[in-house]
Parts: sequence; C-alpha cells; structure tokens
Amino acid sequence: MTTERTFSIVKPDAVERNLIGKIFAMIEDSGLRIAATKKIHMTKAQAEGFYAVHKDRPFFNDLTDYMCSGPCVVSVLEGENAISRYRELMGATNPENAAEGTIRKRFAKNIEANSVHGSDAPETAATEIAYFFNQLEIVG
Ligand code: TYD
Repeated sequence: MTTERTFSIVKPDAVERNLIGKIFAMIEDSGLRIAATKKIHMTKAQAEGFYAVHKDRPFFNDLTDYMCSGPCVVSVLEGENAISRYRELMGATNPENAAEGTIRKRFAKNIEANSVHGSDAPETAATEIAYFFNQLEIVG
C-alpha cells in the first residue's frame, strides 16, 4: 500500500459562500488527510498557467477569469488512492450529473462555478502541487 498525494482547490464560488470548513469536513470524513493548505488569490496569468492544458478550449477565457475572481483555498491531500478517491468525492464536472453525496452535487452552482478542483492523474497531481507549494510547506 502506498500513500498518494493529490492537489485540491476550493474554488472562488465556494470560498465566497463560506464553505471552506464544510468542504474540508467532507474531505476529512472521507478519510483523506490535509497535508498542506493556504488561501490565495490567483492572478489571471497564474490561472492561465494552472489551466494551460485547456488553453484551446472555448471555455478557457471565462474559466480563468472566474478562477481569479476571488480567493481560493489550495491544498495537498494525502491517503491511499487519494487521486481517485478525491475525484469520486468531488463528483462530475457538471453538477447536474454529479452523484448524491458528492461535493459538487451539494455545493456547485454550475459547470464553471463547480466549487472544487482535484487532480486527475499522478503526473498532473505532481505538477499541480509543485505549482503552488514548495517541499517545506507539505507535512504528510
Ligand atoms: P475538466 O478538467 O474537464 O473537469 P474537472 O474539473 O472535473 O477535472 O475542466 C476543468 C474545469 O473547466 C471545470 O472544473 C470547469 C471548467 N469547464 C467549463 O467551464 N466548461 C466546460 O464545458 C468544461 C468541460 C469545463
């Protein structure tokens, strides 16, 4: 068994509605541990860098505007199979398709303002963690 790390964002729509604690409670209740966390307010350039993989998608400009519209909470989560477990806890990208009991079903407003981000694979988790955190900030 190996412990895995994933990267999480509580997005501006959820921070604005004071939902950080409720989302952290769902994360901890699922058995994942918070190894690092901080509140940030991304610039447009930082949001574009983070979502560079989507730069040719039609929603890219609106998405990056939204991600820098207010503060977010970025975190490193840790646990067995953390990447897939957190994706499951988040629910589908579009909250209309999200399963009962997921964060997005409970809190997301729409496909853009969908409350949370979670890495989708080990390589992206490593890149995303390194984008926001240095080694000394992560305490597993
Ligand atoms: P994606 O990586 O497909 O989803 P997920 O966040 O579930 O991994 O898309 C990244 C973000 O882009 C998504 O959380 C919200 C936004 N987005 C839109 O605004 N419109 C869209 O049609 C899609 C597919 C995504």
